[in-house]
Amino acid sequence: MAEGRSLAGKKLLITGGAGFIGSNLIHFLLQEYSDLRIINLDKLTYAGNLDNLRDVENDPRYEFIQGDIRDRELVEKIMPRVDAVVHLAAETHVDRSILDAGEFVLTDVFGTFVLLDVARHNQLEFFLHVSTDEVYGSRETGCFSEDDPLHPSSPYSASKAGADRLAYAYWVTYHQPVMIVRPSNNYGPYQYPEKFIPLFITNALEEKPLPLYGRGTNVRDWLFVEDHCRALEMVMIKGIPGEVYNIGSGNEVPNIEVARKITQLLGKPESLIRLVKDRPGHDLRYALDWGKIKSLGWQPQVSFDEGLQRTVNWYTHHEEWWRKIKEKSLDYRRFYQSYYQDRQAEE
Ligand code: NAD
Ligand code: TYD
Repeated sequence: MAEGRSLAGKKLLITGGAGFIGSNLIHFLLQEYSDLRIINLDKLTYAGNLDNLRDVENDPRYEFIQGDIRDRELVEKIMPRVDAVVHLAAETHVDRSILDAGEFVLTDVFGTFVLLDVARHNQLEFFLHVSTDEVYGSRETGCFSEDDPLHPSSPYSASKAGADRLAYAYWVTYHQPVMIVRPSNNYGPYQYPEKFIPLFITNALEEKPLPLYGRGTNVRDWLFVEDHCRALEMVMIKGIPGEVYNIGSGNEVPNIEVARKITQLLGKPESLIRLVKDRPGHDLRYALDWGKIKSLGWQPQVSFDEGLQRTVNWYTHHEEWWRKIKEKSLDYRRFYQSYYQDRQAEE
């Protein structure tokens, strides 16, 4: 890794470390750095899962604290113990935000405020805020660069846009060393099976229908989570406070094609794919110009075909992991039955 800030010997606060990206990041950093210490602050919502971190739970470099980022008293106790923050904790599923936006505003906006405001009274090396490409909204052609205006269109992306700009305001107003990343859709091991790729893989494994929204023509730029972790490391080391970095991969694939690839990799019939009622306000396409982080020296290493094969293999070999939590994801679907019935393919 090129010179810049050093992570060696540092102590990081990672929020939301029991989720998909957070647990991958903790594994990645503990493997890369022998003397880095990590505090993982996670509320353990439905999406937080300590099974993701069983292999590191007794590692002396790792400490887990169950708690809410909105709990100022708790955050005030933790912040003086760390050198820097990587803020991932959030409510993250667009469909849930359409049904019940409250927790999204409270966690994604207010929770981010609490962390930033407590950080203000502590000397941090950096506060890395993980935003999302969804804050830009949808576009049919071309791609978004960091200076483009934000046009979020779901309660999830609007809450993330609020947090993103609040983080920026703490840099401008209080000179907090805030850096912001806007990554594209991630996929890989440990992703909660309500999200598109793990939902389709696990449904296909169970020979259940794959509910494709609308006509399946929506496009996402798929970033393998391991590439994302390396990008976060790069920004921690070489990122400049006050700057925003897009993290994309150039793997733009329409949903229908992703669904077909999954059935092919698992040797299942394409007839499992069923078109269902579209998501309200469904963004057609996300696409990023990620030249800025490339100029720091990062680029993705995993092609979509390789990443999808690895992801399919992981879910195939970790059935116990996803079976336990997939059942839990159905509670929500039962509660908002009519929404999900419309988006549930018939058996
Ligand atoms: P996830 O839903 O898998 O995990 C979120 C984690 O945050 C969970 O462990 C949950 O328990 C925790 N959490 C939620 N509310 C909390 C609170 N109030 N206090 C403490 N912990 C809380 O999410 P993910 O996919 O790993 O995403 C992580 C971050 O990356 C989010 O900020 C998300 O917006 C952003 N992001 C994700 C993607 C993606 O494709 N997954 C893409 C771009 C950006
Ligand atoms: P998702 O994983 O929810 O991520 P996001 O909405 O944040 O991009 O969805 C990815 C794409 O897959 C999106 O275009 C919606 C689509 N999708 C389906 O077609 N069916 C589904 O059951 C889900 C969950 C998503």
